[in-house]
Amino acid sequence: MSISLTVLENIIREAGSIAMSHFNDLQNLAITKKSPRDLVTDADVAVEAFLREALAKHYPQFGFWGEESGKSENQSSRWIVDPIDGTHSFSRGQYFWGISVALEIDRELIFGAVYAPALDDYYVAEKGKGAWKNGRPISVSNENNLADAMVGTGFACLRSYLKDNNLQRFCRIAEMTTGQRRFGSAAIDLCLVADGQIDAFWEQELNLYDVAAGALIASEAGATVTDFQGNEGIFPKNILVTNGEILKQILLLM
Ligand code: IPD
Ligand code: CA
Ligand code: CA
Repeated sequence: MSISLTVLENIIREAGSIAMSHFNDLQNLAITKKSPRDLVTDADVAVEAFLREALAKHYPQFGFWGEESGKSENQSSRWIVDPIDGTHSFSRGQYFWGISVALEIDRELIFGAVYAPALDDYYVAEKGKGAWKNGRPISVSNENNLADAMVGTGFACLRSYLKDNNLQRFCRIAEMTTGQRRFGSAAIDLCLVADGQIDAFWEQELNLYDVAAGALIASEAGATVTDFQGNEGIFPKNILVTNGEILKQILLLM
């Protein structure tokens, strides 16, 4: 199995250009609601259609799972794609949204890329080889005191039915940390942990396509990827990603 990082970067950047053409013309963006708080736009659909076709053309051996168009037949090796993670931010003209593309083979993630076109930041990782942002290697922060940490979280758009809606957890952690951020794109949040810009991130009720690429990028940059109990692995319904140094301290507050 061989993938080309250059071919993939070109495809993902081209997808970014498609997204940017909609982002630069927001007054004509068609937005519909999949459910009361879950948006989809023309841009999400167009970016995913482009990626699905381009990836199939270059790598016909792999299947596909995208947020908007669903699953192909082959799911034992597949691209996992969120065409725009952060659609709400995108639709309001904010910059934190990204295209998330991962390759999973036999349940193991081997490639992940998150591209934030409005910021022109391209994060990429390959299993066992490390993680990079815009061509330079990245690694998690070395902050080891939760009291001095900056953390990020998100509040799932489909949270209204949840008993645990993250608000109490957020308040507990906010009281014990110096900085808190809510950027609005789980895929980018994970890259920010990878790049040492924040020291931890957690969220509930995500899907694998939100976090697959970002989780590989984070773990290749030295992050711990666990659930809220500290079990290792990717748990989109309760994902906690840290620099490792503050894992024990934050687990006590989850
Ligand atoms: C959303 C973003 C957001 C998170 C939501 C996700 P979408 O993805 O990752 O940060 O809080 O739960 O659904 O809908 O913009 O692809
Ligand atoms: Ca998403
Ligand atoms: Ca999306």
